[in-house]
Amino acid sequence: MKPDYKVDIFTGIRPTGTLTVANYLGAVAPVVSFQNEGKEGLVFVADLHALTDAEPATAEKFTYDIVADYIALGLDPNKIKIFAQSAISNEVNDLMLILARHVTVAELLRIPTLKDKLKGDAQPENANSLLLMYPVMMAADILLQRAKHVPVGDDQMPHLEMTRLLLRRFNSKYAEVFAEPQALKIETLRILSLKGPGKMSKSNPEGAIFLTDSAEMVADKIKRAQTAAEGEMSDSLKSHIIVAKSLASSESDRQQIDAIIAEHMSGKPVMGQFKQLLTKIVQEFLTDFQTKRAQITEADIKAILEEGNKIARENAQETIALVKEALYAK
Ligand code: TYM
Repeated sequence: MKPDYKVDIFTGIRPTGTLTVANYLGAVAPVVSFQNEGKEGLVFVADLHALTDAEPATAEKFTYDIVADYIALGLDPNKIKIFAQSAISNEVNDLMLILARHVTVAELLRIPTLKDKLKGDAQPENANSLLLMYPVMMAADILLQRAKHVPVGDDQMPHLEMTRLLLRRFNSKYAEVFAEPQALKIETLRILSLKGPGKMSKSNPEGAIFLTDSAEMVADKIKRAQTAAEGEMSDSLKSHIIVAKSLASSESDRQQIDAIIAEHMSGKPVMGQFKQLLTKIVQEFLTDFQTKRAQITEADIKAILEEGNKIARENAQETIALVKEALYAK
């Protein structure tokens, strides 16, 4: 049997806090483009993954918020279905156990995301051990839905590699159950913090633009953002240009960005002008998002999740049946 895909595009977000524009650009915008090409997909709220650093009650509270965010960010619930990971927790746990046998503790400890985490605020002595299983759970999510394209930000690439490694090991030992997610063909993004080192992240609020930020907060954060000296290009500025161009709603704004950057590269002091334009673009994007977000009701969210959970459960159960058939035929 040739393994087949079930879902064309698939991704997830952890309900650990308010989303940033980086979450949108890294994970949601590619799904919106797919949808606009007439394709269908499935996205989810990774409430089990959130348990690595959030209490279950917090994850539950934010789950509804993330569904509303997905819709207000442009996902059409008729084309892209949305589910909560906990609605298929039995299947996630089943596949995670099966997959975990095919990776060693040493291999998990070598995953760059975990190594970085353990160098930062967490230490092996105080980090909870669910962190170690995080990439295996992510592989289970993707493989349960047999997803073809998985758009994620650059930070998640090691987890996609782990997914590929695990499915290859499973397929070669038992049977060709899983097709490879074509993650690497998707351009991945790393939006940087506006200020200070590292990526834009929910856990570094000063350097992040949240979807809930007011116009004043946006203006203030962008005013303090790092850019580059006249005539020079920096990683920060590159990241700001991506944000500006991706969020711009008109071609004329995009042309203006190019014009300002050309002047900057020729040595003119135009970073103030660039910041003003970036501020306007982000404010327009957020106003549009916030207006749509305010119109979504709890009843809408419930109905969307009910439908999405059902589809995700059917896919997951079908996959688990195939997996078990392969396991026990051995
Ligand atoms: P989370 O909630 O931490 O991040 C959600 C998505 O946002 C992307 N992202 C970024 N992209 C570009 N630049 C940034 N600065 C930036 N910060 C965050 C993340 O890469 C991610 O795509 N582990 C996932 C959730 C998950 C998942 C999955 C995704 C669990 N299982 C299966 C896809 C498939 C995560 O990082 O969530």
